[in-house]
Amino acid sequence: MKILMVCLGNICRSPLAEGILKDKLIKNNLNAEVDSAGTGAWHIGNPPDQRSIEIAHEQGIDISQQKARKIRSIDIDYYDLLLVMDEQNKKDVLKYCHTPSERQKVKKIMTYCDSNEDVPDPYYGEFGFKNVFKLLDQACEGVIDSIR
Ligand code: 4NP
Repeated sequence: MKILMVCLGNICRSPLAEGILKDKLIKNNLNAEVDSAGTGAWHIGNPPDQRSIEIAHEQGIDISQQKARKIRSIDIDYYDLLLVMDEQNKKDVLKYCHTPSERQKVKKIMTYCDSNEDVPDPYYGEFGFKNVFKLLDQACEGVIDSIR
């Protein structure tokens, strides 16, 4: 199973999603390939936002070595699942898809805990990161259940 987490900048939400899912895979003795990417190019090569690094660190998860990248067409073919954070991410990733089976790989991550809500972009706020971590933690539990 190969999973790509996708947000806008690949510095706040999707790096957290990647770190949280990798942590849960290890704790559950499961195997999957996980990476993350952004639909935008502003932060290519940068580490995650310091606020994401800190909120992960508080939970014993190290995401500091991740590097932001932009999604590429070949990611659609390569990954089995592309888990996006919000409706805009979904629209942007669907532009890379050419067939119904490719489009079916693109899912909002919160659907894994039976919600259609967006994981809100925390970049411009001060207090959003704890909530983002909580939502992604719940969603990734659902992803683990679906892999198991
Ligand atoms: P992310 O947050 O999509 O969760 O990584 C953002 C990070 C940067 C920007 C927007 C959202 N930006 O506009 O630079």
